[in-house]
Amino acid sequence: MGCADSAGAADYFSQQGIKSYALFKDFFAEYPAHFHINVHPKAQGRGVGSRLVSRYVEELQRRKISGAHVVTAADNKNRKFFLNNGFTFEERRAFNDLYLSFMGRIF
Ligand SMILES: CC(C)(COP(=O)(O)OP(=O)(O)OC[C@H]1O[C@@H](n2cnc3c(N)ncnc32)[C@H](O)[C@@H]1OP(=O)(O)O)[C@@H](O)C(=O)NCCC(=O)NCCS
Repeated sequence: MGCADSAGAADYFSQQGIKSYALFKDFFAEYPAHFHINVHPKAQGRGVGSRLVSRYVEELQRRKISGAHVVTAADNKNRKFFLNNGFTFEERRAFNDLYLSFMGRIF
């Protein structure tokens, strides 16, 4: 599930009370799209997630959007998955009592 215009959605997320959304807003211009991804536990580790990311990037490129990001907990094991899929720009920031990681990819 993705959003092609993170800056444009900022007011919506603010109204929903999701305070972490604005934490990395200074990177939205460079990495405008964001997405969420979950693969059923029984299907993980078989390349499904990587294929979904490729398909999403293809769709963004078709729309002339050249960057995307995810935000995850800095100590989550999915960090390696995103690094392997090209999300190599990383910025960590504190949010409440944990660290969040912004991971970006330009294509
Ligand atoms: C992260 C996730 C989307 C990856 O999808 P996938 O289909 O399992 O990934 P692929 O098979 O394409 O890639 C395999 C890599 O994903 C990572 N991975 C595999 N299982 C994982 C899991 N349960 N949690 C986190 N990362 C996992 C590993 O880095 C693995 O690399 P390795 O084989 O070299 O160790 C999927 O594991 C998942 O849904 N995890 C739980 C939810 C989650 O973390 N979502 C992201 C929220 S920001």
